[in-house]
Amino acid sequence: MSTVRTSADPTRRRAATTVRRDKAAGEFLADVLEGLSKPQKTLPCKYFYDARGSELFDEICEQPEYYPTRTETAILDEHLDAIGETMPPGAVLVEYGSGSSTKTRLLLDRLEDLAAYVPVDICDSHLLRSAWQLKAAYPRLTVRPVCADFTKPFRVPRLDGRPRVLFFPGSTIGNFGPADAIALLTGMAEIARPGGGLLIGVDLLKSPHVLEPAYDDAAGVTAAFNLNLLERINREFDGSFDLDAFEHRAIFNADDSRVEMHLVSQTEQVAEVDGTQFRFATGETIHTENSYKYSREAFAGLANRAGWRVETVWTDPLDYFGVHYLVAE
Ligand code: SAH
Ligand code: AVI
Repeated sequence: MSTVRTSADPTRRRAATTVRRDKAAGEFLADVLEGLSKPQKTLPCKYFYDARGSELFDEICEQPEYYPTRTETAILDEHLDAIGETMPPGAVLVEYGSGSSTKTRLLLDRLEDLAAYVPVDICDSHLLRSAWQLKAAYPRLTVRPVCADFTKPFRVPRLDGRPRVLFFPGSTIGNFGPADAIALLTGMAEIARPGGGLLIGVDLLKSPHVLEPAYDDAAGVTAAFNLNLLERINREFDGSFDLDAFEHRAIFNADDSRVEMHLVSQTEQVAEVDGTQFRFATGETIHTENSYKYSREAFAGLANRAGWRVETVWTDPLDYFGVHYLVAE
């Protein structure tokens, strides 16, 4: 974890960044080796987001099949005044998984009295570029980017005891299973207390005929996003994955209420990662992502178990997506 202002001394700052990168690379390798050793091979989806993966995610958001981005943006746009009135004045806005901070601009245009904006993201290049662009667009705003894995403890700057409002758009909460989602939301409630809140986007349950194409667009951008994970492993850990020998698959698992993404081995093959060999049968998959879809009631139950009360939910006419304002109890 590092904030952008770690030290006034550039040499110490560079050293701190190197230590953080080495630690992150060590954790990534350990997670890859562990995930590929399981009977159902898995890779954690947080590793999608290297510089290329972050670019591809932004492209996914523009695909006609990927309804969540435009739906959530329209909800935020339509209800900005009500959202602004629900939030405590003079807050610090802390965004989890800020990416390009595109939706944030809607809030920043409306919330003129914000004390500061703290974008938090695992992808440092994307985080810093977005933070610089925001700083240029909002010169009076204090922007304090934090490069961190938000599933682990990290320091959120506290400014003059101002309330903290957390912003978690995109339904990124859906990328966590129920137990991990409750753990993450519980930690968020601790950060928001006292007096803060959580503005969170949640993708709602709908027909598989809408869900599956959203994760398997005709232009093949989501497929490229999924395969980029293998490319990243090849590059960072001397891997030998043959990208032409794996295919992207997205399926809705109704029992678990989630869209699953897999990489399907097209043949019997062996891939090596950092000197360890992994054997694949034809048709065997690496499970790379879950994207849970909630009914309003199911999400409210999850939030309650993590110490939050649902104050307001704003939705779209098709009830595809819910923007929730939660208050920490
Ligand atoms: N908030 C944006 C981006 C969502 S994509 C939107 O609504 O469109 C998910 C973002 O979360 C990416 O920018 C990714 O880099 C970041 N992310 C994913 N897992 C993370 C983790 N464990 N810690 C910090 N950031 C993470
Ligand atoms: C970031 N997250 C909420 C996206 C999702 O919809 O689960 C990631 C994504 N994966 C494929 N397309 C988009």
